[in-house]
Amino acid sequence: MIELRHIYKDYYIGDSVVHALNDVSLSIGDGAFVGVVGPSGSGKSTLMNILGILDTADCGEYLLDNTSVADMSDSELAQLRNRNIGFVFQNFNLIGRMSIAENVELPLIYQGVKLAKRRLMVKEALEKVGLSERGHHTPNSISGGQQQRAAIARALVTRPSLILADEPTGNLDSATGTEIMQLLHELNAAGSTIVLITHDHNIAAQTGHLLHIMDGKLSDGGAGGHGVSGDGAGGHGVSGHGAAIKNGDACGRGAGDGAAIKNGDVSGAGGHGVSGADAGGRGAGGADADDSASTNNEQKDGRQ
Ligand SMILES: Nc1ncnc2c1ncn2[C@@H]1O[C@H](COP(=O)(O)OP(=O)(O)OP(=O)(O)O)[C@@H](O)[C@H]1O
Ligand SMILES: [Mg+2]
Repeated sequence: MIELRHIYKDYYIGDSVVHALNDVSLSIGDGAFVGVVGPSGSGKSTLMNILGILDTADCGEYLLDNTSVADMSDSELAQLRNRNIGFVFQNFNLIGRMSIAENVELPLIYQGVKLAKRRLMVKEALEKVGLSERGHHTPNSISGGQQQRAAIARALVTRPSLILADEPTGNLDSATGTEIMQLLHELNAAGSTIVLITHDHNIAAQTGHLLHIMDGKLSDGGAGGHGVSGDGAGGHGVSGHGAAIKNGDACGRGAGDGAAIKNGDVSGAGGHGVSGADAGGRGAGGADADDSASTNNEQKDGRQ
């Protein structure tokens, strides 16, 4: 079970700040097939990097099987990444000077798998993605679709419980895209939890559950077109929460876009700065430490 609670991630470019993730909360049950759809720049890859523990949030909580990632040591995190998570990166990230087979073998070397077993596992992974004949090629001597399949072979070779796929069909024609989706469905049926990131609504509709992301805010789109992972019934529940629940709490920043005000109106509660301090323990401190952002937000919020 994956849980994000009030995750924020900002990027600063000069004086301007981008709220790449803005109060993102979600939970993904084991065995789910979740699509995250949103336009370019909406925060999809940022979300994937945080889910994959390749990056850390500014604040908020990430729980894996009820254990906070923040409480794990670096070596525990590295082990978790290597053993449990398979990445399919947006730009493949295949190493150009290595053959396809060597690329697929790499995560097994990191895991310390012995040579004979590695060779067998690589062979199986390449077979699964239909690249048995291409193992000795370098990435630049195969097609884009084949590179994408190689990237998937590298993600699945360790038999991870979670596969994070960032635009795995983004660079492909629709027939090859369909093949890749089929492959992901097979992996899901074999037990892997899949988070598929895409800007393509047709692809997204083929997932079991859809989450929408826009300007760093996540909202729950409900079950996808095909209900593949059997949300709910099989204990594969997925839920995503928009920003409206506790906007601005965790970082003590406020949302800065009127959502907090709306939130206050609806609940009649207001006072989000206070609950931010409660929830994150850094309401006032966060605001102080983050002068430019908090000033902007406070001005827009009308909050003190
Ligand atoms: N390292 C960075 N430095 C500064 N800004 C960044 C950085 N990474 C991402 N951003 C900004 O954060 C926002 C979210 O970026 P992200 O890469 O998560 O978007 P995306 O939804 O994956 O987009 P795409 O569909 O184009 O891949 C964008 O506005 C982006 O410009
Ligand atoms: Mg991206």
